Amino acid sequence: MPDLIVNVDHIATIRQARLAHEPDPVHAAHHAELGGAHGIIVHLREDRRHIQDRDVRLLTQTLGTKLHLEMAATREMQDIALQAKPHIVCLVPEKRQELTTEGGMNLLGRETELQEYLQPLHQADITSSLFIDPDPDQIKAAAEIEAEYIELHTGHFADAETRAGRDRELDRIKEGLALAHNLGLKVNLGHGLTYANIHAFAHMPGVSEFSIGHSIVARASLVGMERAVRDMLDIIRGFC
Ligand code: PXP
Repeated sequence: MPDLIVNVDHIATIRQARLAHEPDPVHAAHHAELGGAHGIIVHLREDRRHIQDRDVRLLTQTLGTKLHLEMAATREMQDIALQAKPHIVCLVPEKRQELTTEGGMNLLGRETELQEYLQPLHQADITSSLFIDPDPDQIKAAAEIEAEYIELHTGHFADAETRAGRDRELDRIKEGLALAHNLGLKVNLGHGLTYANIHAFAHMPGVSEFSIGHSIVARASLVGMERAVRDMLDIIRGFC
């Protein structure tokens, strides 16, 4: 069964709406762990719209599982990652105006630059992941960059409005998974995954982790984080 990694950014979104101290994404992360999460993800954005530097620091000091740090490939973020030492750094594209990450990174033409960017992180024993669309050229570029993981973007599948559109995206993801494995990459999936669509991926062989944020936090706001995580795990287990 793939690991479930819970993104707690939107707990911080509620806190930042009032520039207050609660709810605390660090507390939420511990509740997610109690519910069975295999790890926690936060995205430290350049504009600090939700997760703050202090959250990353406290999470690295207090989590019992593992921390994934999503970040843009900037010098500032590289310094923060080298200090905080999360288990995994996942590089994502970042735009100030976007509501959420809108698609995968474009790695083409950036292979050498990104390989050099990741080198100090690898030397510090931080595992690397690249968030990309399930596009064969991007997957080949990720292998060239020598990232250990890729996270395939499932957002286009989640947003597809027709069955044919969903099937097309599902095929792209399956083919992407197979290609990535042939190239020695481990594969995570994330973006737009919900209680209603996770079944499409739960039985897919070769997925290391699901990265899920919004849907779990939305449910957690009504039933509590532990239960929201347990409910998602029950669904995934039921299809494995
Ligand atoms: N994976 C990546 C790379 C993301 O940027 C996000 C959103 O922060 C997620 C997964 C989680 O997406 P969602 O909140 O739609 O579950």
